[in-house]
Amino acid sequence: MSKQKLASRVGKISPFQVMAVMERAKQLQADGNDVIHLEVGEPDFVAPQAINEAGIQSIEAAKTGYTPATGLPELKHAISQHYRTRYQVEVAPERIIVTPGASGALLLMASLMVNEGEEVLMPDPCYPCNRHFLIQAGGQAKMIETSAEQAFEVKLDTLPSHWSENTTGLWLASPSNPTGAVLSKDYVAQAWQQIQALGGHLLVDEIYQGLVFEGEDFTALSLDDDIFVINSFSKYFAMTGWRLGWIVVPEWAIEGATKLAQNLFISASSVAQYAAIAAFEPTVLEECEKRRQTLNRRRLTLLEGLERVGLPVVAPAQGAFYAYVDVSSVTEDAMSWCLRLLEEEKVALTPGADFGMKDAHKYVRFAYTCDEQRLNEALTRIERFIQS
Ligand SMILES: Cc1ncc(COP(=O)(O)O)c(C=O)c1O
Repeated sequence: MSKQKLASRVGKISPFQVMAVMERAKQLQADGNDVIHLEVGEPDFVAPQAINEAGIQSIEAAKTGYTPATGLPELKHAISQHYRTRYQVEVAPERIIVTPGASGALLLMASLMVNEGEEVLMPDPCYPCNRHFLIQAGGQAKMIETSAEQAFEVKLDTLPSHWSENTTGLWLASPSNPTGAVLSKDYVAQAWQQIQALGGHLLVDEIYQGLVFEGEDFTALSLDDDIFVINSFSKYFAMTGWRLGWIVVPEWAIEGATKLAQNLFISASSVAQYAAIAAFEPTVLEECEKRRQTLNRRRLTLLEGLERVGLPVVAPAQGAFYAYVDVSSVTEDAMSWCLRLLEEEKVALTPGADFGMKDAHKYVRFAYTCDEQRLNEALTRIERFIQS
């Protein structure tokens, strides 16, 4: 037995519960079963070809060394230009820090804005890693209960009652993982007003930006230069494995964020950065738009099908590629329901327990990251499972 001990912080980090589902799904598949994967939070598309080619070219040209810590100037310029042309917002390239995925950006954000013992408010349910990044920084998340009936939004008039002297900010995401809910510009503006009055910071995670089917596709950067925004090439550009994202920080935070970027990462992957410059070419953006339309068709198929099988989606699945579905009419425990569904019908879903505390046992997340035919097949299997 080793006398060495893991840091106590590790004990506070929970593993992904979906791993149990994923591992079993893989095993069933390896045994020759036809498993339908609706559990994975990544697009089933690969990056558009122009991106891949730009990456290959950078390798062939030996552009593989470290880049400046906050990112290649050409890439930061291209991101800034994208904000201007698509969202009519001026974002100075100096405010953009390129990171290893949105994950790197969240780690940087936690390190930048949270002191030992401080807490950050966020909705329950939300992206599970958020609270773990805060633990890394010595802080913690304070989850605020939400409900499907209220579109999983934090009620803004309750913010002061959740605020304490240790609270430092509010983290939101739009569109949201796991709910797919899209926040309105008005809502984010009001949240910012309240947070300013309380003296805190606001972070909006816009990693699913562009994947909006209902509601406005906007950026919180259009409201105020003092709001922090995170984004990534993982979802809209289908570059999950390239590990590239960014954070936009206010002017006054650039120096601090740069120091952290230098020390935490040295730089993001150079090859991924050269590849990502091509993401903003018009032909690539056209392809991404077509994919958005494909995702929307799948979304409508899924929502109609769920209604048909008796699991209507109350919460608005307006963006990303998720629907967060209440299964309490058919089970008291979503986790074991997921595992049984997988065993009996070979359909893999993510149990709500990964995303929150309050009603997590009632919910499952569907990721519509497979084609419509497979989605329909999954719905047929789920219907049979419910009726059995
Ligand atoms: C809301 C949200 N934020 C951040 C991330 C991290 O993404 P990445 O590090 O691939 O950019 C994810 C991944 O699923 C996510 O859903």
